[in-house]
Amino acid sequence: MGTESNQRVVVARRPAGRPVPADFALQSAAQPEGEGVLCDVLFISLDPYLRGRLSGRHISGPIAVGEVMSSELVLRVAEDCGGCRVGDRVRAFGPWQRRVRLPAAALTPVPQNVAPASLALGVLGMPGLTAYAGVTRLLQPQAGQTAVVSAAAGPVGATVGQLCKAAGARVVGIAGGGEKCAWPLNQAGFDVAIDRHRQPLREALDAACPDGIDLYFDNVGGDMLQAVLERLALGARVALCGLMDQYNQEMPPPGPNPALIIRARAMVQGLVVYDHEDLRGRMEADLSVRLQAGELAFKEDVAEGLGEAGAAFCRLMAGKTFGKALVKVAD
Ligand SMILES: NC(=O)c1ccc[n+]([C@@H]2O[C@H](COP(=O)([O-])OP(=O)(O)OC[C@H]3O[C@@H](n4cnc5c(N)ncnc54)[C@H](OP(=O)(O)O)[C@@H]3O)[C@@H](O)[C@H]2O)c1
Repeated sequence: MGTESNQRVVVARRPAGRPVPADFALQSAAQPEGEGVLCDVLFISLDPYLRGRLSGRHISGPIAVGEVMSSELVLRVAEDCGGCRVGDRVRAFGPWQRRVRLPAAALTPVPQNVAPASLALGVLGMPGLTAYAGVTRLLQPQAGQTAVVSAAAGPVGATVGQLCKAAGARVVGIAGGGEKCAWPLNQAGFDVAIDRHRQPLREALDAACPDGIDLYFDNVGGDMLQAVLERLALGARVALCGLMDQYNQEMPPPGPNPALIIRARAMVQGLVVYDHEDLRGRMEADLSVRLQAGELAFKEDVAEGLGEAGAAFCRLMAGKTFGKALVKVAD
């Protein structure tokens, strides 16, 4: 990229409900000067937790109106600096901006065998770690169990389903729309996919899980969680991971009835990926082997160009992305 043009995406206004593209603005930006390693942003990770940051409700802190949007990035080092060499690919938290300077200590190398490099933001990144921690530490699937996962076509849900399947469980995914149901079935080896837009959820769960639900990985909350809790088998394990049903709402809705968890003697545990950083090396090694053996399917939804970042995030929060949501900023 030329030294004359730099651009960034700022929060133009606080989203009300579902974000819309006008909540974000593309602006020109000064060339990054001063300390730090000069890098070109290759990929921006779009993740649902960013909606919580825009409302000031997420544990990782708020992003205010007028601030530059920020999230996890894959970058290419643009000048030799410290231990970094031109062309190195790295991962870091940083601004939605074409060219940035970041402290060397904030950069994590993306190994050469992570190809495409965007996998470091998806199945071999934070979503992969979320799935891996949730399955290995919380759900602990056993052969013959019935596992249900919501948002099954996304990077967390699709990886959860495949890890449960590899452990011998029968896997039922819930997703929105025909294509997002066909992919888990045909590419990711799920046993059943329930289309939340077309099928009455409770009837579909009854048909798919006649002996109850042993394992549930919840990415959505709300009535979907309620419907699954109504069908828990004795000794069920539930991982509470995400709340897609309420991120776009001003006030959290009334929750499901905990009596359903008590009745099933179910083990329920909240999942925060930050607690499982110690598992990252094992996750990368294990999932890389599965990827290279063609045993782990992944899907990406890549918007082209920094100017598309805001609109692509809005598509994520409307449930319209299919696969790990990313913005490709540069080749
Ligand atoms: N606890 C943690 O540490 C942690 C870490 C990472 C991610 N998460 C959570 O994991 C979940 C999945 O993350 P991801 O990155 O894999 O996202 P994703 O699946 O790519 O996107 C979220 C999906 O949620 C589904 N959804 C269900 N109800 C929705 C609604 N009311 N509005 C919009 N979408 C709805 C949509 O898929 P369908 O239309 O196919 O249903 C949407 O595509 C999110 O809730 C995220 O916050 C938690």
